[in-house]
Amino acid sequence: EQELEESGLKKIYSEVIWDIIPEINEISQRLSMEYGRQIMDNISWRIKSPESIAFKLKRKNREISLECAVSTLNDMAGIRVVCPFQDDVYRMAKEIRRIPGLTIIKVKNYISHPKSSGYRSIHVIAEALHGEEKVRVEIQVRSVAMNYWAILDHQLCYKNERKETEKLRKELKACAIDIAEIDK
Ligand code: GTP
Ligand code: MG
Repeated sequence: EQELEESGLKKIYSEVIWDIIPEINEISQRLSMEYGRQIMDNISWRIKSPESIAFKLKRKNREISLECAVSTLNDMAGIRVVCPFQDDVYRMAKEIRRIPGLTIIKVKNYISHPKSSGYRSIHVIAEALHGEEKVRVEIQVRSVAMNYWAILDHQLCYKNERKETEKLRKELKACAIDIAEIDK
């Protein structure tokens, strides 16, 4: 926690995020005008907490250091875009990939290829320039329904490796499939 505080990284990550958010708002405005309704429901962001960084590095069997976190984690800086409909998710993701100044590292389509948990979203991993420095950002784009599921899953199961959650995991996966049907 102290290392992160002293590194100045929080400032760098927030500045990069605050540069990207207006671009996403502009895309949302443009698409909403075009379609005559709201294409984005909400946008949020966060910088990964020290606890969560340590937890993830440990899970990935990596050395627990800030240096290792910066070089190996894609989601130290994260933006989440929530859209009413699945079509909107694709529309927003497509435009987000074209934001000037962003270099797209990877796009993960967990809608066409849901995770075994049932998780669905599109992740755009991008690199932005902060001065001379390259900074990675993970932009998650999902529907209201996918977000609803992910929030519950995050509290109930995700990253919880306890055995007791096995039944819950199965139920959540079944729910994810139902929710995806409703979403369609
Ligand atoms: P981690 O899954 O976080 O170790 O990252 P990764 O490098 O394997 O990338 P991945 O695309 O799998 O996950 C990145 C982020 O997506 C996570 O930090 C979560 O925010 C979200 N996510 C991925 N899988 C799940 C899931 O099964 N449930 C929920 N609720 N969120 C998920
Ligand atoms: Mg993962």
